[in-house]
Amino acid sequence: MDPLLLKTLHLAGVLALFASLGASLLGGSGKKGASILHGISLIFILLVGFAMLKRPPMHQSWWMIKLGLWLFIGLGPALAKRKVLPSSVVLVLCLAAGVAASWLGLAKPF
Ligand code: HEM
Repeated sequence: MDPLLLKTLHLAGVLALFASLGASLLGGSGKKGASILHGISLIFILLVGFAMLKRPPMHQSWWMIKLGLWLFIGLGPALAKRKVLPSSVVLVLCLAAGVAASWLGLAKPF
């Protein structure tokens, strides 16, 4: 598939993921829709990410770190729901993880 289309789809998944985080961590109602969007966008980001990698470069670690950040963002709403951390803290940490994942995707530093 066209690499530009894959990148655009990857970013679309990221937009949907953060929309779902806003709804589930700050929103008052419609949380079921938010958790469905959260799950779907996470899977979508992962699938398109691996489609872009084709064969994961095992000698590089940037994409493995991204997987860890992806997992953290995936666990975020559960951390808030179980009151492990306040929602606002989870949101800030997820934003920081998203920024780090974006930088890793752009810079591919190691
Ligand atoms: C929620 C976590 C993630 C965020 C916020 C994120 C964000 C981004 C962003 C902003 C880019 C740059 C796109 C561009 O070049 O314009 C990117 C690239 C990329 N991402 Fe992700 N990503 C995430 C998770 C993942 C995962 C889990 C994978 C799969 C292993 C992945 C694989 C890639 C690849 C391979 C590229 C490079 C595309 C290229 O330049 O060839 N990403 N990501």
